[in-house]
Amino acid sequence: MRLLFLGDLVGRTGRSAATSRLPGLIANNRIDFVIVNGENAAGGFGITEEILRNVVDAGADVVTTGNHAFDQREALVFAQRQERFLRPVNFPAGTPGRGAAVFMARNGARVLVINAMGRVFMDQLDDPFTAIEKEVAACPLGEQADAIVVDFHAEATSEKQALAHYLDGRVTLIVGTHTHVPTSDYRVMAGGTAYQSDVGMCGDYDSVIGMNHEEPLRRFLHKVPGERFLPADGPATIAGLAVEIDDGTGLATAVAPLRIGGVLSETLPPFWS
Ligand SMILES: [Fe+2]
Ligand SMILES: [Fe+2]
Repeated sequence: MRLLFLGDLVGRTGRSAATSRLPGLIANNRIDFVIVNGENAAGGFGITEEILRNVVDAGADVVTTGNHAFDQREALVFAQRQERFLRPVNFPAGTPGRGAAVFMARNGARVLVINAMGRVFMDQLDDPFTAIEKEVAACPLGEQADAIVVDFHAEATSEKQALAHYLDGRVTLIVGTHTHVPTSDYRVMAGGTAYQSDVGMCGDYDSVIGMNHEEPLRRFLHKVPGERFLPADGPATIAGLAVEIDDGTGLATAVAPLRIGGVLSETLPPFWS
C-alpha cells in the first residue's frame, strides 16, 4: 500500500498547487491513501467548508488541522458533518468534530488517522501521548486497522521524537506538521514506523513560514503590530512525504520526501517510478 501526506496548505498558492497536482500524482503513482493538513488553507488561517470540499475532490481522503483548526468559525459547524475533517484529538472534551477516525483506502485497507497537537511552546491541551494511546489501543494495527497515521502538530522537535519512540512499531507513520519547514530526518525507525519531524508546508517558501515576510519582520524589529499577516503569493512548493507500507504488517518499508515547484529543489520518491 502506498500513502502520501502533504504538509499544511498555506493560502491560495499552496492550496491551488496541491489541488491541481494531486489527481495526477495519485493516478500516476498508484497512491492508495492521501492525507493533507489544511489548517492554513483559508488566507493562512483555518479552512472553509468550500476549500475542504475542493481538497477532498482533488483526492484527499482526510484533511487534518492543528492550532488553526477553528480560525474560520464556520468550522465549528461543519466539523460535525464533514467526516473527512479532523481537528486535534486532545482538544478539550466538548470541542466540535473528531480527532481520530478510520477511513477506507482505495485498496480497501482500513486506515486509522489520528491528529494530535503538542504542548511544548503551544496551548496547554490535554496530554497528547495519553490521547493517542487511547485511540491506538481501541483500534490496534494488524487488528482493526491495516495502517495507522499520526499527524503530530507540534512546535518542539523533542516532543515529536519522544512520541516517535513511544509509538515505534505500533503505528505506520508519525509525521510532524506546524513548523512549515521540511526536516531531513525522514526514515523508517527500528520498529517499522516511518517518521519525519516536520513534513513542511505546501506554500510559497520565499516567505516567513508561508506569510509575506514584511509584517513578521516588522514585528521582530519593532514589536508593534502593523497590518494583518497575509500569505505570500509566489509559486508554491508542494511538500509531502510518501510511504510504502507492508500490507501484511501495516508497518512502513520505505519513506521519501516529495517536493515539487517553487523555490525548493525538486525531489520525488525513488520508489514511485
Ligand atoms: Fe500550519
Ligand atoms: Fe499550526
